[in-house]
Amino acid sequence: MTTMTIDSNPIDPIRWCDGSLELLDQRVLPERHELLPVTSANDAAKAIGDMVVRGAPAIGIAAAYGVVLEAQRSTGADWHDQLKEAIEHLGASRPTAVNLFWALSRMSAVIDEHRHELHPPVTALLEMAGSIHARDRSDNLTLGRLGSELIARHGRCSVMTHCNTGALATGGHGTALGVIRSAWAKGLITRVHVNETRPWLQGARLTAWELQQEEIPAVLSVDSAASLLMARGEIGWLIVGADRIAANGDVANKIGTYALAVQARHHGVKVMVVAPVSTFDLSLESGAAIPIETRDARELTHQGERAVAPEGIEVFNPVFDITPAALIDVIVCEHGVIETPERGSIARLLA
Ligand code: MRU
Repeated sequence: MTTMTIDSNPIDPIRWCDGSLELLDQRVLPERHELLPVTSANDAAKAIGDMVVRGAPAIGIAAAYGVVLEAQRSTGADWHDQLKEAIEHLGASRPTAVNLFWALSRMSAVIDEHRHELHPPVTALLEMAGSIHARDRSDNLTLGRLGSELIARHGRCSVMTHCNTGALATGGHGTALGVIRSAWAKGLITRVHVNETRPWLQGARLTAWELQQEEIPAVLSVDSAASLLMARGEIGWLIVGADRIAANGDVANKIGTYALAVQARHHGVKVMVVAPVSTFDLSLESGAAIPIETRDARELTHQGERAVAPEGIEVFNPVFDITPAALIDVIVCEHGVIETPERGSIARLLA
């Protein structure tokens, strides 16, 4: 069995070593650093659904390794059906991030290619999962370079980011946070304003922690402080990631991104969306067709074990929203930069 060890990286949320998968449990960060062993596709699907691993590219990578785990366990002539069932189960774990389906369709193609063989193609599947992982990391570095060049063009400034789009959410480095990291390394950023990102607190728990690891100056605020900061002229760019980008440039991202883009337009703050090509879904005409995940009411009604809302209250907890393309100044992907994104410019760059 091929051994694939992930390159050393200070923040490594997905670790494959000697045929096993471990995930850094993002539910308990930054308080505790716990690695969760994952031994089957079912385990991987549960870990994705429960947010042990989260962030669009990281979900796709974890699911790909989940298929490898299942291939290692599969026996008998019906291995092909077993793996297809595992892929279906993994695909049901979270609905919005298209990177999950992008990664699973690559794994599915490998399965189909080997369907006439007696045993599951473990080595070929591991190679595909490893290449999805490695490619995401190297694409992130390209995103970092392209995004930081845009910041350089407009001048040194402080920036705002939402949710967590860093090494924890990707194969390494990050998308929006990768741009911020790269720009910081070039002396282009004075400080990073981190929104706490209600209700799961990806900003407070994960982004603030990642920035602290690298001693990048970061200020944490409640999400609703964004307009005040923008009105004071303290934000040069709003830089966010994406979970799915439709053919017309509408962007699904963490709940609150739409409101931030409206506020940014009002205050003349530029909006940069940073995402790999695997986040585009050109089969969808517009953001209206993107499925929006809603999660457990308890995320709003409780802080840990403590109730912070009356029992029985009806709760609306969508965890993504759609930012219309018209509110986005630029989308950065590894193929290049799309200014004032619209259907034609996106199709041309991705062709
Ligand atoms: O619910 P999450 O934490 O998976 O949501 C993550 C986001 O919304 C990120 O902004 C997006 O996945 C891009 S991650 C590089």
